[in-house]
Amino acid sequence: MKDLFGKAMYDFQTNNSPEDIITETSISEEDEMSVDYLFRSYNEMPKIEQKALQLANGKVLDVGCGAGSHSLSLQNDRNLEVTSIDISNHAIETCRLRGVKNAKVQDILDFEGEKFDSILLLMNGVGIFGKLENCNQYLLKLKSLLNPGGQILLDSSDIIYMFDEDEDGGKWIPSNNDYYGELVFNISYKGEKEEPFNWLYLDYNTLQNAAIANGLKCELITEGEHFDYLARLTI
Ligand SMILES: C[S@@+](CC[C@H](N)C(=O)[O-])C[C@H]1O[C@@H](n2cnc3c(N)ncnc32)[C@H](O)[C@@H]1O
Repeated sequence: MKDLFGKAMYDFQTNNSPEDIITETSISEEDEMSVDYLFRSYNEMPKIEQKALQLANGKVLDVGCGAGSHSLSLQNDRNLEVTSIDISNHAIETCRLRGVKNAKVQDILDFEGEKFDSILLLMNGVGIFGKLENCNQYLLKLKSLLNPGGQILLDSSDIIYMFDEDEDGGKWIPSNNDYYGELVFNISYKGEKEEPFNWLYLDYNTLQNAAIANGLKCELITEGEHFDYLARLTI
């Protein structure tokens, strides 16, 4: 990977002529994403993210922290002890420049040796699972990092609304065996193309089934304005 997403954050943080990120997925046309969205303050966050931050307590792990907006809010406004991890070098460098105290380059699947009271995965947090078949692996890893009584707070969306309706008012979903929330993302930044990557969206029922299959309780905390929701998983 060329870490273009991370470079965009770093450019924004260092005033190095940041540009919009161009995204395109297997089911949608090219779209522009403004990098400043990754630098949102608490008041600019969607309500499901604000709710996740309100529920966070104790020792917190922010998984796929990006530019560290959630970590900063918890660290500065709530005085919580936060560990922030991301696989992107530039994202972590950006976090450090913004004052995130404990940010490190780390793949969640290789993380061990510490446990947490609250684990956050936000901005379609399940996206990093990539494909439905990887859910068990990620959920078991996250579960292994929980302190007794701990919680995993994650958000996603049911993207069934992205599919066209047929004559009967039903949804037309591609007829192969893949789950409809499995997308391939292409992003480009400043004329460079990133390697395509898998990105997963989970409807709540599918998440709940996967959670139960891995010995986790799943609770729907709140729904957003656009098919998005916040869930809490506990042991
Ligand atoms: C959509 S961004 C979300 C950023 C941030 N949570 C926010 O809400 O602004 C997803 C982030 O997850 C990171 N990521 C992807 N796979 C990861 C993994 N296996 N472990 C840790 N971070 C990962 C990416 O580098 C990216 O910065």
